[in-house]
Amino acid sequence: MALDHESIGQVVARALDAFASASSTSELKDARLAHLGDRSALAAASKEIGSLPGPERKDAGQRLGAARAEVTAALAARQAEVEAAELERVLAEERIDVTLPVELVPQGAQHPITALMDQLSDVFVAMGWEIAEGPEVEGEWLNFDALNIGPDHPARGTSDTLFVEPIENHLLLRTHTSPVQIRSLLDRPLPVYVVCPGRTYRADEFDATHVPVFHQIEGLCVDKGISLAHLKGTLDHLARSMFGQDITTRMRPHYFPFTEPSAEVDLQCFVCHGASVGDPDNPCRTCRSQGWIEWGGCGVVNPRVLAACGIDTDVYSGFAFGMGIERTLMFRNNAADMRDMVEGDVRFSRSLKGVAR
Ligand code: FA5
Ligand code: MG
Repeated sequence: MALDHESIGQVVARALDAFASASSTSELKDARLAHLGDRSALAAASKEIGSLPGPERKDAGQRLGAARAEVTAALAARQAEVEAAELERVLAEERIDVTLPVELVPQGAQHPITALMDQLSDVFVAMGWEIAEGPEVEGEWLNFDALNIGPDHPARGTSDTLFVEPIENHLLLRTHTSPVQIRSLLDRPLPVYVVCPGRTYRADEFDATHVPVFHQIEGLCVDKGISLAHLKGTLDHLARSMFGQDITTRMRPHYFPFTEPSAEVDLQCFVCHGASVGDPDNPCRTCRSQGWIEWGGCGVVNPRVLAACGIDTDVYSGFAFGMGIERTLMFRNNAADMRDMVEGDVRFSRSLKGVAR
């Protein structure tokens, strides 16, 4: 290349043209390599300078230096422009409109009954009791006979109990969690302190306080020197843990073949607080104007049940209880109609969100 003013001017002009027409950083990079790189005309010219005679060398060196500076400055300026344009484009193309409506995926949650079962269990786990389990399809012997419920007991009829066909197999949907008492006594060494929360089935009515598929929490304690007083103390603690210090309960004598003596525990109606009793003008749908709602059954374990499990009844005694979990939820959260708990409308569960836990 000639190192005269005109030739160098052409080299510069070509470089500036190339930079000006590069419209992206990658095009600009190519242009930089072509016009300022090792194989560019300017690089070649720099090499030639050495072979020029002294005075010419100085002039040519100055011209070349000025040319290189001009090209480098043009490159930097174009680089800034191209980068700014690219940033502008990215900002425009990748803009997120935060005001657009979004499709929220609803978050799942435990059903209030499930959450409450955990919470009931926690009250006992905190006292050192264990959680026991049993199947929902249960043997007739464990659900009835082992619990001293004789063959003629009315609860054993098909009008109350859902049997699994064929009937000769003697399988049924457990009508209470009490068979887990027997399972626990046969499985575990004494003393036994267990609770079993679980699902139970009855051919029952479907109304504000009854559903055919419901839940109970069974409790069983068998140890030396256990009396009705321990039962009363345990249930009082449970009631206060669930409903607060002000809850009014009563124990009403009752009969269960597997406990002796037996009682049912009632909670004062949370809707009418007893005001509907004897006041036909203000009937209460929730307690059917009884003033009380039954929470569960309990009693001192019948020695016949212990003996059936091979336990020495001179040394050991126990108490047991079975409380309704739907009834517990009704009272805790003022849910006046139990049918809402099984109908599967998430608005019901949502209204209790955070309450049951
Ligand atoms: C029993 O089931 C006994 N196994 C309880 C028991 C256990 C007694 C241990 C002694 C020792 P009962 O049938 O009363 O008892 O039912 C207990 C509780 O289950 C009732 O008080 C009620 O809270 C609940 N319950 C019973 N039937 C239904 C139903 N159809 N819907 C909702 N809850 C029910
Ligand atoms: Mg009852």
